[in-house]
Amino acid sequence: MSAVNSSQVVNIEDLRRLAEQRIPKCVFDYLDGGAEAELTLAENCRAFRDVTFRPRGAVAVRDCDLKVRVLGHELSFPAMLAPVGYSRLMHPAGEVAAAQAAGEAGTGYILSTISAHKLENVKAASQGPVWYQLYLMGGRAAAEGSLDRARRAGFSALVITVDTPVAGLRERDSRNGMKELLGPSLFAKIPYLPDFLAHPGWLAAFLLDGGVPRLENVVIPGKGPMELVDVAAALSEATVTWADLRWIRELWSGPIVVKGLLTGEDARRAIDEGAAAVVVSNHGGRQLDSVPATLRALPEVVAAVGGRIDVLMDGGVRRGSDIVKALCLGARAVLVGRAYAYGLAAAGHAGVTRALKILRADVERTLRLLGCPSAAGLDRTYVETPPAWRSG
Ligand SMILES: Cc1cc2nc3c(=O)[nH]c(=O)nc-3n(C[C@H](O)[C@H](O)[C@H](O)COP(=O)(O)O)c2cc1C
Repeated sequence: MSAVNSSQVVNIEDLRRLAEQRIPKCVFDYLDGGAEAELTLAENCRAFRDVTFRPRGAVAVRDCDLKVRVLGHELSFPAMLAPVGYSRLMHPAGEVAAAQAAGEAGTGYILSTISAHKLENVKAASQGPVWYQLYLMGGRAAAEGSLDRARRAGFSALVITVDTPVAGLRERDSRNGMKELLGPSLFAKIPYLPDFLAHPGWLAAFLLDGGVPRLENVVIPGKGPMELVDVAAALSEATVTWADLRWIRELWSGPIVVKGLLTGEDARRAIDEGAAAVVVSNHGGRQLDSVPATLRALPEVVAAVGGRIDVLMDGGVRRGSDIVKALCLGARAVLVGRAYAYGLAAAGHAGVTRALKILRADVERTLRLLGCPSAAGLDRTYVETPPAWRSG
């Protein structure tokens, strides 16, 4: 039996511990860490404690309906898989394994631009909805190529991440020598070899997979797929502006989701620019440190949107009860990032499947304990929020 299916794995934190054991510290810290002092990273998780439940007693809920609809897709439960870059470093099956597990669980997967499996293979692995997340890395010509491939492969929505005008300072990555590790010089990697050698299972799989992969979905005309080491510099030139969004709308006729908003003003602007949904997100605390927890920002965005488009949120979701709280505050569904990526790093496809099973069982149990028969029926009457949150 795989370690992720043992009786010792009961929550996402258990998967996090297994991931920490299996993969080198530099890869684990990339996955686990946040920007600068990691204030927002911690606050994303902590904010869920500020919201408490108001259960309805003496209600027998036997058949709980966990389904929700997002952009016309029916999801079997209200969580999708967020775009997570460098997934193939966590496990060779990377994005393919995650998309497959999402589809089997009846939910959707969002493929990051910073991905190393060809988008066509990722789409083919999933029986559920798959969306493509776009950074303008490599310029507009590279983006045009990716969008054309994504459309032909059957990606059903495009996610534009707007909180990354430059890569955040992830101090753990600097200390761990992430840049040296991804670069071409073998000499520069020498100080980090003990970390790799201490994780022989990961190292063997990484070498058999061909070592540091390239970005198969960012093909620079005349040059080929972008190298992973070039990502940080490319991100600095990849800011997606509202003007870019208008240009992207000409190329992409399907729904566009704007990810990375924290205010009502930006949400209204996104609607004016034609967004079909927004994701309240601070990139999991990996970009601008000291922005508020996403759960705290959610009510303001929900109020500004006023039901005109779907509002999703991500950041700090580690339990199904977190998902339920976000829905009570007006999110249609959440995205999970680290919660499934820990599973991926721990055991590939089996780990992602385990993460989704844990979250799904949590959501169902929480609904029954709350006395609410359906995820779609959740609202603010099921939670108590601090007084300052009620204006949203
Ligand atoms: C390792 C890692 C890589 C990420 N890469 C991307 C990315 O390539 N594109 C993107 O839009 N968001 C990216 N994100 C942000 C996630 O999509 C999501 O917003 C965030 O993980 C949510 O917070 P959570 O991890 O606490 O669930 C990444 C997050 C992590 C943890």
